[in-house]
Amino acid sequence: MSEAQRTQVAIVGAGPAGLILARLLACQGVESIVIERRDRAYVEQRLRAGVLEQTTVDLLRAAGVGERMDREGLVHEGLYLQFDGVRHRIPLRELTGGRAITVYGQHEVVKDLIAARLGGGDEIVFEADDVRVLDVDADLPTIRFKVDGDERTIRCDFVAGCDGFHGVCRSTIPAETLSVYERHYPFAWLGILARTPPSLDELIYAHHERGFALHSMRSPELTRLYVQCSPDDTLDMWPDERVWEELHLRLATRDGWTLREGPVVEKSITTMRSYVVEPMQYGRLYLAGDAAHVVPPTGAKGLNLAAADVKVLAAALVDWYRTGRRDLLDAYSATCLRRVWRVEHFSWWMTTMLHRAPGDDAFDQRLQLAQLRYVTSSRAAATMLAENYVGLEHV
Ligand code: FAD
Ligand code: DHB
Repeated sequence: MSEAQRTQVAIVGAGPAGLILARLLACQGVESIVIERRDRAYVEQRLRAGVLEQTTVDLLRAAGVGERMDREGLVHEGLYLQFDGVRHRIPLRELTGGRAITVYGQHEVVKDLIAARLGGGDEIVFEADDVRVLDVDADLPTIRFKVDGDERTIRCDFVAGCDGFHGVCRSTIPAETLSVYERHYPFAWLGILARTPPSLDELIYAHHERGFALHSMRSPELTRLYVQCSPDDTLDMWPDERVWEELHLRLATRDGWTLREGPVVEKSITTMRSYVVEPMQYGRLYLAGDAAHVVPPTGAKGLNLAAADVKVLAAALVDWYRTGRRDLLDAYSATCLRRVWRVEHFSWWMTTMLHRAPGDDAFDQRLQLAQLRYVTSSRAAATMLAENYVGLEHV
């Protein structure tokens, strides 16, 4: 066993939460080590979210990692809600005083952050096995793990639990100190990446009696599409022909618009849940991102919420190192949870407005359509959607 290494903040997980936190701390002169279970290629290729809120874009720019995003990201000033075969545009920029979203894949954000960190000579330990988080209620927490069979030990002032929903950090907190709030949805998303130009220059969220569908994109050559499916479905139940058939049906409009097909280069199923753990901290361990909360993907919020958490955490840690004051750290969970619950509500609202649940009857469908008509015809209601979608200002 090698000697223990010392750092200021040990960050478990090299997803968006862990990597953005590491970057924000580095910008303020606080030292950290990032410990990641997977290898670099895996985290750089993991296809997930694609929509960055204005707030996230601003944060990445301020942290000096926005250069490629500004060059390659697609700025969208509006989105479409579709129902009854008719598309209605929500003009995001106009309704929010000039704010917009940027379509730029989560794995591209991750690549940019990893390149910046390694380029600056800071450490990310990839392929860390058997990660254990110890003594977070003492002054000097310890992280132990194995790399290539060798045991390594890191001692630190603080641990940031950025290891996603299935990570180890949350489970090191005594269960009796935590409250869990959870909802499962009786549907899932089957997502494909198709090598074909987008069929429209903005996103389409479509309500359909056969279930929800979403048209998104990754670049001028790559279209990202989702269809609602059952959480029990497996990929072999969804050959490409069936996926295209459902997408054509659910995204069809009455004006003869056509969806472009192309070779499917990726296909996966994502189940959906809402989940919040309170509080998001225990001793010197602070949870951030999916480690603390999960939203269904309909509002495109998961990655953005992770970024908002670590902005709060970085400011609190920097303040502690500068002044020795604990008040921002002590308030971390309460500060984050205000935004978390707003976003939980927005994601739940978008999800229930747009999906068809098994057992839904004509009454449920009429309520959904009434809500969709209201959101697309009342400026006040459209503004509510728009300001949540582009992201409420960070605190
Ligand atoms: P993660 O991105 O999960 O990162 C956690 C990191 O910790 C990972 O790299 C993981 O390998 C690592 N890790 C886990 N356990 C350990 C351990 N024991 N030790 C060390 N490291 C560990 N959001 C959307 O808005 N739109 C979408 O379309 C969308 N699609 C998604 C599809 C899938 C399959 C999933 C799982 C999520 C999706 N999300 C989507 C949600 C969004 O991607 C997440 O909210 C976002 O990744 C959260 O970032 P994070 O850094 O908190 O967690
Ligand atoms: C994408 C994912 C989302 O969850 C969403 O609401 C919009 C777009 C995407 O992957 O492009």
